[in-house]
Amino acid sequence: MIYNQFMLINPDPVIVGESFVKDYDALYKESIANPEAFWEKLAKELSWDKPWDKVLDWQYPYARWFVGAKTNIVANAIDRHLSTPAADKVAMIWVAQPTDSAQKDEVVTYTYKQLNEQVSKFANGLKSLGVKKGDKVMIYMPRVPEQFIAMLASLKIGAVHSVVYSGFSATALKTRVTDASAKVLVCTNGYPYGKKTVDSKANVDEALKDNKTIEHVIVVDRLKNGSGKTTPRDMFWSELVEKQSPECPTEMVEATDPAFILYTSGTTGTPKGVVHAHGGYMVGIYATLKLVFNIKPDDVFWCTADAGWITGHSYILYSPLINGVTTFIYEGTPTYPDIEIWWKLIDNYKITKFYTAPTAVRSLMKFGEEPLKKYRLSSLKILGSVGEPINPEAWLWFYKYVGHEKCPIMDTWWQTETGMHMITPVPSVGLKPGSAFKPFFGIEADVVDEKGNKVPPNTQGYLIIKKPWPAMLLDVYNNSKRYHETYFEKIPDVYFSGDSAKIDEDGYFWIVGRNDDVIKVSGHRLGSAELESAFVSHPKVAEAAVIGKPDDVKGESIKAFIILKQGITGDDVLKDELKQLVRKEIGPIATPDAIDFVDKLPKTRSGKIMRRVLKAQELGQPVGDVSTLED
Ligand code: PRX
Repeated sequence: MIYNQFMLINPDPVIVGESFVKDYDALYKESIANPEAFWEKLAKELSWDKPWDKVLDWQYPYARWFVGAKTNIVANAIDRHLSTPAADKVAMIWVAQPTDSAQKDEVVTYTYKQLNEQVSKFANGLKSLGVKKGDKVMIYMPRVPEQFIAMLASLKIGAVHSVVYSGFSATALKTRVTDASAKVLVCTNGYPYGKKTVDSKANVDEALKDNKTIEHVIVVDRLKNGSGKTTPRDMFWSELVEKQSPECPTEMVEATDPAFILYTSGTTGTPKGVVHAHGGYMVGIYATLKLVFNIKPDDVFWCTADAGWITGHSYILYSPLINGVTTFIYEGTPTYPDIEIWWKLIDNYKITKFYTAPTAVRSLMKFGEEPLKKYRLSSLKILGSVGEPINPEAWLWFYKYVGHEKCPIMDTWWQTETGMHMITPVPSVGLKPGSAFKPFFGIEADVVDEKGNKVPPNTQGYLIIKKPWPAMLLDVYNNSKRYHETYFEKIPDVYFSGDSAKIDEDGYFWIVGRNDDVIKVSGHRLGSAELESAFVSHPKVAEAAVIGKPDDVKGESIKAFIILKQGITGDDVLKDELKQLVRKEIGPIATPDAIDFVDKLPKTRSGKIMRRVLKAQELGQPVGDVSTLED
């Protein structure tokens, strides 16, 4: 069949037959008529130590869900399965990155019972170090089983974790550890990354040089060479857990107590600590995965994200476990040791639901469909996409060659702040390639102008959410002012997402991209201001402005405009130096693709750089309203 982006792709009748949701419109209507009843019904499918007095306490702009209730994410992700046949089911399959294509897989699996033991041992280990309810545990690790065990163990004892993406630099780690005032840090002594070995422990040591709050650093010997203990506060994971009991009671916390802080980029130089609670977050991610990916007990769910980002928190770890299925984790990247690794893993481990990012699809699409033809991919039932808009061409390739025209694609729009899917199809609806469909149940979303008025169909505007939802962020850690300003002041009475979108005549949402200064490079969220402050830390740089430019594979690439200090001339050597500097200050994901040395930058009269003007000029587009432009 020849497809195009304008057609409606109807679901396979088998998928519809298996779906929890058979009639999106009817359930959506019901959920919107009474969202609290909708969420309450789903919450009752989970385990609570004490029921709630109130489903929602909405005191604009703060939402508190399941007020008065006591629970713990871990009580639902692990404990509730231990008294059921799921206790002996595989909770987690982890496959190490092989050194070459011929190497036999190194696999680690845990049943729910075994995972409980590992989590309990580490939880007891944390307790033995004095970690208590509310203390912050920093996790700076690659995708290894201990990363997930450390996350679960922190929550189990009521501590609050903050995972920092392993690709972030020492400076980026330092900023986050300092803001969180963390007590303990968990890391590895390094990790394989393709042919290279990354010395991530050196980043930890540098980040903690002047740190006053971290008392212990727990090091996983991922490199299996006994390296990594460099200071008296360091200890190996194995030393800590070997003496611990495999039993540890789960601390029941208030549903509204914080579970984790996840730092994310915004419009200013310092990242925001997005705080999520146990109760509401847990209900939101449980419900979305269940209905969007039609989760059934035998599913083997593979989300290719990293736990350094929200997708890894919600849909690699917590929601698959809360739903009682098997979560699959591959340590490596999509193209190492070869470009077939993902397809091989899907066949070998019989993955049923596969959730990935457009950038990965595009990077594999470059190699054509031949590499896929060796694989059956017949276990797959549903595919998913997240992190950035998926262009219709990539959507169709994914649909045809990975899903064999049988697996619907769930293009899920959401954010670190939303915690859970917000605009997404369910498997039984007709799909338009490139559209994220419509809001999830209980979610009221719209596209409006700057005054908050709905824009006509097919017109670009601001994507907003009108009512609170259970996995909504609690606050910005240590910075409520920023919470108000970023999400609730631009347009009163609604949650301002920072994205632009259009709604077509059929009510389908089309996400255009960010309307603030956030750049999405390979789905990774970076702030222009963060990048600019890295540039201006160079002694030869006077000013910097950074924009995101469309990129065929990465979605966006970074372009910087630099004004040098007087008397300095720019050349390729300086460009390289600046690129290295940004890698050091933020991490390799932030490496700029292009740097231009300029004499002037477009600014407002108050001196604010108008990145929008730079971007329009760069892309040859109309510059729009420039009445505030100084020159
Ligand atoms: O611009 C949107 C884009 O990713 C942003 C959120 O980034 P982050 O907080 O890192 O979370 C990413 C994973 C949920 C959004 O503001 N985005 C996310 N999903 C989609 C998307 N853009 C278009 N389509 C999506 N499905």
